[in-house]
Amino acid sequence: MAKNTLSFVCQNCGAAYNRWQGKCEACGEWNTLAEEDTAGSVPVSIRSKRKGRTFALESLSGKSQDAPRLSSGMAELDRVTGGGFVRGSVLLVGGDPGIGKSTLLTQATSLMARAGHRIVYISGEEAVAQVRLRAERLGLSDAPVQLAAETSVEDIVSTLSEGAVPRLIVIDSIQTMWTDTVESAPGTVTQVRASAQALIRFAKKTGAAIILVGHVTKDGQIAGPRVVEHMVDAVLSFEGEGSQQFRILRAVKNRFGPTDEIGVFEMTGLGLREVTNPSELFLSERDLGTSGTAVFAGIEGTRPVLVELQALVAPTSLGTPRRAVVGWDPSRLSMVLAVLEAHCGVKLSGHDVYLNVAGGLRIQEPAADLAAAAALVSSLVNAPLPTDAVYFGEISLSGAIRPVAQTGARLKEAAKLGFSRAVLPESARGETGGDAGLSLNAVGNLTTLVAEIAARGSRKGPDAAAGEKNATPARFRRGEG
Ligand code: TYD
Ligand code: MG
Repeated sequence: MAKNTLSFVCQNCGAAYNRWQGKCEACGEWNTLAEEDTAGSVPVSIRSKRKGRTFALESLSGKSQDAPRLSSGMAELDRVTGGGFVRGSVLLVGGDPGIGKSTLLTQATSLMARAGHRIVYISGEEAVAQVRLRAERLGLSDAPVQLAAETSVEDIVSTLSEGAVPRLIVIDSIQTMWTDTVESAPGTVTQVRASAQALIRFAKKTGAAIILVGHVTKDGQIAGPRVVEHMVDAVLSFEGEGSQQFRILRAVKNRFGPTDEIGVFEMTGLGLREVTNPSELFLSERDLGTSGTAVFAGIEGTRPVLVELQALVAPTSLGTPRRAVVGWDPSRLSMVLAVLEAHCGVKLSGHDVYLNVAGGLRIQEPAADLAAAAALVSSLVNAPLPTDAVYFGEISLSGAIRPVAQTGARLKEAAKLGFSRAVLPESARGETGGDAGLSLNAVGNLTTLVAEIAARGSRKGPDAAAGEKNATPARFRRGEG
């Protein structure tokens, strides 16, 4: 008798249960269990009579061929993949709907096809006419990309097995694919996993590179196929605020390259434009001379990126003040606020605090601590920071400013963009400096910086500072911590 293979599978993480429950115990999400037929996705005890084949065991030191890469023709995309698409590899590109995944891949595939490679674009979401319309709008209609609107993995694999092996296949998107081997509905974890498996097998067998497009849920997870993340060679995430034109492509996982590189694009009426100097873009709409903004000299991968941090510190009537942050780690903000309170005598418990990284960039470096602290204090005392200064340094729990890597690269980028001062950790002073031509203000402790900014606030005269009672440096009691 056939075994009952119905089970409840979490659509977020793929964990399976044999009865329904409200919460998935594996990932903690609520209401994510859906009934699926898992027959076929896990082979049920196949007892093979076949005698095992023997294979040769290799040594670690053996010579392997360098991973042959296919350049996408877009330098920013190549930077994130680590130099191009690797033969036989599978890459997942995730991002919110409408962020520009199809646009990016249409542009890249067209450039590669024009360079003479066999490139196939399978759209499971849009009709051929829609994809053509986009290509027309991008001025790429003449590119010899092979196009189809298909969703059956078996049909796709048989079609692509004929003729020359494509160098690259785009599957837009993996959620729309389905395979006969499992019975659940398209879009379910079981289907997505089985479809991805079949496509990955095809890539490994033929040496074609495959790009899977995946949608992302509101909290940034690649919906459903989180399981797919483990199966593919690289996961790229395409990010950006819908209202802003900047788009950032980031490697989340990469078996063939670095994971800290970003590619920066700008969405224009004619598709995505590569931004080779992101600092200029992130600083282009800077409000000069307003309080609460500080320029952070950061490093993204191998490239220095200057970006503005904006803070707003406003008195609150709420019992629990608001702490809102965009583009930075909220727990990092809490830490900086705690250090300001405990060691620098800056009282923030009666204030709402908002922190924003301009341009839709997401900063992960702890080196941004110092710039964030400077912006916060500047907003609190209503004293604009010098417009020609950049800030970087990690703040330790004791309030000391700790050194960060790549001081030289940060200073050079700042000098290139016309900055003339840098506020940085004390220990970095001797390291570099003169050669970049910046005047360096090395601070050993956060208290020193706070005092300097507060002094700027009081120098502005009573009118500016007395605009709000909280804005006077009188708020700084001597540190008790
Ligand atoms: P799309 O690539 O379809 O997004 P995704 O595949 O990630 O869902 O891009 C959709 C958005 O991009 C859409 O809102 C319109 C905008 N867009 C432009 O601004 N300029 C262009 O040249 C193109 C093709 C799209
Ligand atoms: Mg799309």
